[in-house]
Amino acid sequence: MSFSRPINAPPHIQQLLSQLHQMSLEQEASFSKEGKMSSSDVLRDIEEEQPNNNPKENFDRFMRDKFIALDEDKCQFAYQLINAMGATNIVEAGTSFGVSTIYLALAVARTKAATGKPGVVIATENESEKAAIARKYWAQCGPEVEQEIELREGDLLETLKEGLPDIDLLLLDVWSTLSLSTLKTVLPRLRPGAVVLTDNTISGASGYADLLAYLRAPENGFQNMTLPFTNGFEMSVYRPQ
Ligand SMILES: C[S@@+](CC[C@H](N)C(=O)[O-])C[C@H]1O[C@@H](n2cnc3c(N)ncnc32)[C@H](O)[C@@H]1O
Repeated sequence: MSFSRPINAPPHIQQLLSQLHQMSLEQEASFSKEGKMSSSDVLRDIEEEQPNNNPKENFDRFMRDKFIALDEDKCQFAYQLINAMGATNIVEAGTSFGVSTIYLALAVARTKAATGKPGVVIATENESEKAAIARKYWAQCGPEVEQEIELREGDLLETLKEGLPDIDLLLLDVWSTLSLSTLKTVLPRLRPGAVVLTDNTISGASGYADLLAYLRAPENGFQNMTLPFTNGFEMSVYRPQ
């Protein structure tokens, strides 16, 4: 069976994306028996193995060279959705080596051209080495990707506090423990009808307990659906009363 792929990009970008997804999957398979793990699983394993040896610091050190890129089909879905919504202002919480960011930038380039609206992909990363590698991959893609991205380096709970336009879509692909605070930081700038996408909400449900409770409380104004991608992908539409 052949599958259709929505991404409209020159061959060198398509090639780079395939290569980066492959590298990410191989790396994950090398440290996880299941092939894929949520950040809460990794932290739990480290806490169990070395409970008295600063697990948070060990977790950060372990994750420093890990891609953990958003799955290819989820990236393609985000690209499709941005095109369908005509979304032009995106926040990506958690950029790592910038794989999903490339899809967001390709989509925003198209929606800006189609709508004539301004727009930007606001990417976030607190590991400077990861940020430098992400910039290198975006440069390999070329200006059509690079020029759509504003990378905010540092703790996103600080870097997203100010200077956000009205946001059409928030991709929550950061450690689950940070997700609710991230949502609350961006929430004042989410436009009605904005979409929040959250990765791994089935496999990482326990780590996301506070976020999911918040999203699902009717008074907070989100309509939620867990999309049946591997490990779950939550799509939450913001419809405040
Ligand atoms: C799951 S990865 C993102 C993967 C990326 N979206 C992709 O598809 O390639 C999560 C990233 O969030 C970053 N991160 C964790 N805490 C952060 C914080 N407080 N501020 C900014 N970035 C953070 C991590 O360093 C990690 O690279």
